[in-house]
Amino acid sequence: MADLAIIGGTGLTSLNGLEITKREVMHTPFGEPSGPLTHGVMNGKEVLFLARHGSGHTIPPHRINYRANLWALHNAGVKQVIAVAAVGGIHDALPPGALAIPDQIIDYTWGRPSTYFEDDLTHVTHVDFSYPYCETLRLMLIEQSKAAGLCVCTEGTYGATQGPRLESAAEIARMARDGCTMVGMTGMPEAVLARELALDYACCAVSANWAAGKGDGAIISMSEIEENLKVGMTRVRSVLEQLLLKI
Ligand code: HPA
Repeated sequence: MADLAIIGGTGLTSLNGLEITKREVMHTPFGEPSGPLTHGVMNGKEVLFLARHGSGHTIPPHRINYRANLWALHNAGVKQVIAVAAVGGIHDALPPGALAIPDQIIDYTWGRPSTYFEDDLTHVTHVDFSYPYCETLRLMLIEQSKAAGLCVCTEGTYGATQGPRLESAAEIARMARDGCTMVGMTGMPEAVLARELALDYACCAVSANWAAGKGDGAIISMSEIEENLKVGMTRVRSVLEQLLLKI
């Protein structure tokens, strides 16, 4: 049974080098996950893969069933989750293609089912979320990025926005004042649901573009995002390969 799962985001709908052993369709009390869980072996290690946006990238960030996704992974016996996520770079150190392993989150999303403790009114539960990401997994990602010869930002604050639209330049300026160094649409409630299920969770973020108003201030095009992600995801793949060798 695999201890580790990888949730692939935009630009990573499958894992090269994964010898697939099984595809498992899961049903959860919270509905259907984004797709079947792909079980496989990579670099001699069992691993589970789930494409967050569905295998054909058809599910937008605000329509992802985050509760079903995390529940399915938990039910499959996974203990650790690495979430790969495309982001917009807010901090100067995050040009397109750069990697970052965030250590904090600010949640700007709304209206997303974001807890498993919704209906249990007899035991009110408040999970600790002071440090949203698992430090052990974060350090492993940082170490293996370096081992793969890559430059990586070893900390950062992920601002999670609702999407699916991109942000205005003023919104990004406000997020920068709040302390966000990157912006993405899927970091929440994924991280907190992992915490509620006591899963170790860390994020490997890839800058797909300068966030609105950053860089040379040009408008953001999907083709630019796709091009940058090709480079960025090649880097992520080498980090994951390295990590599976070491884990
Ligand atoms: N904003 C929000 N989410 C994103 C971006 C962005 O600029 N780029 C990739 N995901």
